[in-house]
Amino acid sequence: MSATVISGKELAKEKRESMKKEVELLKKEGIQPGLAVILVGEDPASQSYVKAKQKACEETGIYSVLHKLDDSITEIQLLDAIESLNNDPLIHGILVQLPLPSHISEKAVIESISPAKDVDGFHPISVGKMMIGDETFLPCTPFGIVEMIKSQGIAIEGKHVVVIGRSNIVGKPVGQLLLNENATVTYCHSRTKDMKSITKQADILVVAVGKANFIDASFIKEGSVVIDVGVNRLDTGKLCGDVVYDEAKEIASFITPVPGGVGPMTITMLLFNTIQSAKKLVV
Ligand code: GUN
Repeated sequence: MSATVISGKELAKEKRESMKKEVELLKKEGIQPGLAVILVGEDPASQSYVKAKQKACEETGIYSVLHKLDDSITEIQLLDAIESLNNDPLIHGILVQLPLPSHISEKAVIESISPAKDVDGFHPISVGKMMIGDETFLPCTPFGIVEMIKSQGIAIEGKHVVVIGRSNIVGKPVGQLLLNENATVTYCHSRTKDMKSITKQADILVVAVGKANFIDASFIKEGSVVIDVGVNRLDTGKLCGDVVYDEAKEIASFITPVPGGVGPMTITMLLFNTIQSAKKLVV
């Protein structure tokens, strides 16, 4: 039987409609949520992500400002730019698009963002709060994944979640968020031995590797939930995930497509965090 497709695009559309209404109400109270996006350099993928984030803000009524900086900028200049946004009352969220040029410390940049405006959820204070289950800004991709799973009424508690990938942006935090939901979580990564024997046990398999078609049917348990975080561009120009979709959808019970899966939800949770910040619900 073919899996139910979890459409991030559809869920994102629903959530953005209700956020748009919320922003209209906030504006009537004299508050317009504001997001500042900083893009350093000309990386084409980063440029397209930033463009999509700005378009989503515009459609939702969120004020957004893009700071496009040359990749010759010094770390001090970038930290100064962040400091002025930390102090700008019109800005409720600050996002520095990663990766940064190698002469700039990502750690120093992330730590310079005020935790009160850390809508990416990357600041160590936000990460620590997430780990202990305190209210904080949750990182957008993992947050979007949890929302997608919950949207289908899939129980997380007691499930064996296997996460492939251990990045700070996706792998580590998605495992933590699902642990907070009482799942049993196993991480696999490039040094894992006999990965297949582990992924075959997964009730929920989250794949965040960044390698096209890395996971085929032989890695997947019958009836499991498969979340594909990968966005890979093939030589043909076509986008594909980390999972061999056509094979996986014949084995899984639920699956996310690429494109139209996790991607649109990442941006949606960024909008959500920015609105929460404007409402001062998260500090
Ligand atoms: N680069 C890839 N994903 C992200 C993200 O979620 N936030 C930021 N700031 N940079 C990224």
